Amino acid sequence: MCGIFGYFGSKEALPFLIEGLKKLEYRGYDSAGVATLNNGRLFITKCVGKIAELEKELSARPIGGKAGIAHTRWATHGQPSDENSHPHSDCSGKIALVHNGIIENYLPLRRRLAEEGHKFKSTTDTEVLAHLIEKEFTKKGETLALEDAVKGALEQVEGSYALAVVYENQPDKIVCARKASPLVIGVQEGETFISSDIPALLKYTSQIIYLNDSEVATITEDGVKIETLKGKPVKNKITLVSWDPESAEKGGYTHFMLKEIHEQPKAIRDTIAGRIKVDESFIHFDELNFSVEEAKKINRVVFTACGTSWHAGLVGEYLIEQFVKIPAEVEYAAEFRYRHPIVDENTLVIAITQSGETADTLGAVWEAKAQGAKVISICNVIGSSIARESHGVIYTYAGPEIGVASTKAFTTQLTVIYLFALYLAKKRGTLSKMEAQKMISDLIALPDKIECLLLKENEVEAIAQRFYKSTNALFLGRGKGFPIALEGALKLKEISYIHAEGYPAAEMKHGPIALIDKNMPVIILALAGRRYDKIMGNIEEVKARGGMVIAVAAEGDQMITEKADAIISIPHTTEALSPILAVIPLQLLAYYIAVKRGCHVDQPRNLAKSVTVE
Ligand code: AGP
Repeated sequence: MCGIFGYFGSKEALPFLIEGLKKLEYRGYDSAGVATLNNGRLFITKCVGKIAELEKELSARPIGGKAGIAHTRWATHGQPSDENSHPHSDCSGKIALVHNGIIENYLPLRRRLAEEGHKFKSTTDTEVLAHLIEKEFTKKGETLALEDAVKGALEQVEGSYALAVVYENQPDKIVCARKASPLVIGVQEGETFISSDIPALLKYTSQIIYLNDSEVATITEDGVKIETLKGKPVKNKITLVSWDPESAEKGGYTHFMLKEIHEQPKAIRDTIAGRIKVDESFIHFDELNFSVEEAKKINRVVFTACGTSWHAGLVGEYLIEQFVKIPAEVEYAAEFRYRHPIVDENTLVIAITQSGETADTLGAVWEAKAQGAKVISICNVIGSSIARESHGVIYTYAGPEIGVASTKAFTTQLTVIYLFALYLAKKRGTLSKMEAQKMISDLIALPDKIECLLLKENEVEAIAQRFYKSTNALFLGRGKGFPIALEGALKLKEISYIHAEGYPAAEMKHGPIALIDKNMPVIILALAGRRYDKIMGNIEEVKARGGMVIAVAAEGDQMITEKADAIISIPHTTEALSPILAVIPLQLLAYYIAVKRGCHVDQPRNLAKSVTVE
């Protein structure tokens, strides 16, 4: 996704802009650019390629100034090119604008502007915004404040935006605005920062202002003025963010992804802290006000999410039906939002999202609310759009997840879903106090078990060494192992580019078995439980066709050692928590295979950390 960074203060802006873009690199991008205001003059430098290319341009032609905006572009409309890079400008070249999102009605707007004589330099949707702002000045005169010109332009726009604008004729300000795309403002004595996300600001300030949809912020030396698109003043609410700057750094690991895999024990401890007390089988979520009556009114749960978060929903489906004894289903957010889903005030819709900014999941939340459902979200970013749009939110406290491939966010999502299922079951009386105490104890013991499991990292690396040249892979699981098979396949494909598929193990004989040969590693979740014998049968079927089996199995499982070609054993835990343990070896396997294939693990090709466009 595109990244936006801005600086307004008493120091040279450029170093902050470059540093800010580097912190946003993980979002995925194909070009970068900056604009600064210096002694009443506007300077723009931008180019296709990585930030290093931009730095080369800037070292040849430095640009000064104490106010500036910057952008990393993840192409939506228009190929990656110098012309399509941001900042974009108007005909006069006096306006510079950076944008994240999609202007959905940009074509008719562009046509009308061109008929009125505006000349376009790019094929992007974004450039239309710069010309609309220019047109506001043409219509209403140069006495118009930049923020009012921006509001006038945005009134004509459909779609999503997070944007920042500077204007040579009004060099004492930066104007920014947002709708459905993330933008936060960091404030510090005498300095103001703008960013697409919080980690890029942590080095400078922990005082954050979250801009809401259809709000416009004007940044000057007097501070931050916020108003709605209609001009209604909005009171600044400064939130103190507790993330420490270190947590957004690599901490000595080769990649963010490996660091975040190893952070999972701490992430789970932080996520359960303050929410459980074993003795009273107590479970509590501060952010949720669920009375017993409300809990009893729910007759159905719908999880909605994308990607890895959707896999968490699949595990949740099993847990809700197992403990709460009501129907549960999982919907891809993009399908749910356009399908006119049948939900009502007795349906609990649970949106699962790490970033809290995924456009499709946000759209699903809006649709669920429009249909009258109660909506809660499970989210890792405090104050994010989806968290604020939901009736209630349960935060995962995984800390910033920088690697594009989600790991600690996923296992903390599963932790929250497990806890929430127990919480709801207790409210509805489908779980006894003793059962709850046992399950809470199992959860408290889980982080230590993950730490033991992570000590087997070298075993997993050795297996990766045997299989990293494969071109395909099949992941199989049953019950709660099936979503983990899907997640293992997603991890592998998104960072190593090996084609990998996840399947319910029972489905193998209905087609995928045709793929089995000695070149197709088959990763099987051979977890203990009532389906174990069936899984053993699947392993036999694979071996009978010359396939290679990598099994994830419980420690001490003797039978599996006679059947599988490679084994990663996981500690014993209650069956409902086994997905959290089982995914760890698959995260490590995908990581080491990708590293051995020389892939860019933290920023895989074509991918973005948060997909804030449809
Ligand atoms: C996970 O490894 C992927 N990067 C991706 O599928 C991600 O889970 C998906 O885009 C949803 O993101 P969200 O959790 O921030 O909504």
